[in-house]
Amino acid sequence: MAQSSAGNPDVPDMGRRQFMNLLTFGTVTGVALGALYPVVNYFIPPSGGAAGGGVTAKDALGNDIIVSTYLTSHPAGDRTLAQGLKGDPTYIVVEKDSSLADYGINAVCTHLGCVVPWNNSENKFICPCHGSQYNSEGKVVRGPAPLSLPLAHATVADDKLTFSPWKETDFRTGEAPWWS
Ligand code: FES
Repeated sequence: MAQSSAGNPDVPDMGRRQFMNLLTFGTVTGVALGALYPVVNYFIPPSGGAAGGGVTAKDALGNDIIVSTYLTSHPAGDRTLAQGLKGDPTYIVVEKDSSLADYGINAVCTHLGCVVPWNNSENKFICPCHGSQYNSEGKVVRGPAPLSLPLAHATVADDKLTFSPWKETDFRTGEAPWWS
């Protein structure tokens, strides 16, 4: 007499077998992709690679910022976030004469690392986490943040903006840059 597997704990039913297959497939695929990642990564050039350890500034969607277009929609005094060095959120500064500043401001708060928003009406960066404040150039003017926001050089070539490491004197404090 034929015996049904239903209800027999020794014979997995279809649903359970499919589940096990899926689990095995998922595990194998995950391991394979994990192993491939460094290999694939090796062959992909770093995004926006530029000379001197710089990176091409990118907007929130990951597109290169085209300076001439950018300046048509970002007026004098504007501070807008872009992706900067090491992927850090970095402000692009539009000067009072509507030109781009030759520096960018890293937006990571020097207190505990919140991203600090620009407050246009106060003309300051004000951290929402514990109230630290930085002036329009990113110099700390109120704690608990102990230090000013790091700078990056911002240079324009071929209508694109490049951020590169700032290793020179911090023009806001006259001191050596604490971040490099
Ligand atoms: Fe910005 Fe604490 S993280 S004030």
